[in-house]
Amino acid sequence: MTEKEPPEPTSGESPDDPQRRDFIKQAASVCVGGAVGAVPIAAGVAVYLDPLDKEATGSQRVKVTSLDGLPDDGRPRKFSIYADKKDAWTTFPKSPVGAVYIMRTGEKALKVLNVVCPHAGCFVDYIARDDEFFCPCHDSSFKKDGNIKSAHSPSPRPLDELKYEIDESGAVWVEFMNFLAGQKEKVPV
Ligand code: FES
Repeated sequence: MTEKEPPEPTSGESPDDPQRRDFIKQAASVCVGGAVGAVPIAAGVAVYLDPLDKEATGSQRVKVTSLDGLPDDGRPRKFSIYADKKDAWTTFPKSPVGAVYIMRTGEKALKVLNVVCPHAGCFVDYIARDDEFFCPCHDSSFKKDGNIKSAHSPSPRPLDELKYEIDESGAVWVEFMNFLAGQKEKVPV
């Protein structure tokens, strides 16, 4: 959107004219409002995971699957994560807050990766043919262990690994959290 320039002073209107001052104030507030509104758009798809406020952020321990639900051959399987989400007034129980890939790396050892691409927040896909994760937004590619595969990948860091726990019944619990996109370091949000 292009912003209107304040009108040049015309005859009978000095820079100190009260009407002109009001107009400039209004124009400035529109500019500031536009800039603030642009931030969530630039933050990309990751905002979808945390659209309302900070109470929706932080780690949440979530029961995701069982060991039996994971392929023996180490292929990653994708799971949506549902957890309680809050804004300033309301709690939304069992709402979608993101997704993870989980794969076996040993009899009772797993790797859990957040599906969000650390570049700008798109979701990565697992491409079985190439045994890699691929981000369709700007072509970042990651090895199955989450590390960056191609030197041309724009992602500043590997896929974000998450902690997990397998309880005595074989249930897999994930410490789910999201991280800031576009940073070399993992910064929780
Ligand atoms: S968001 Fe994944 S490569 Fe840009």
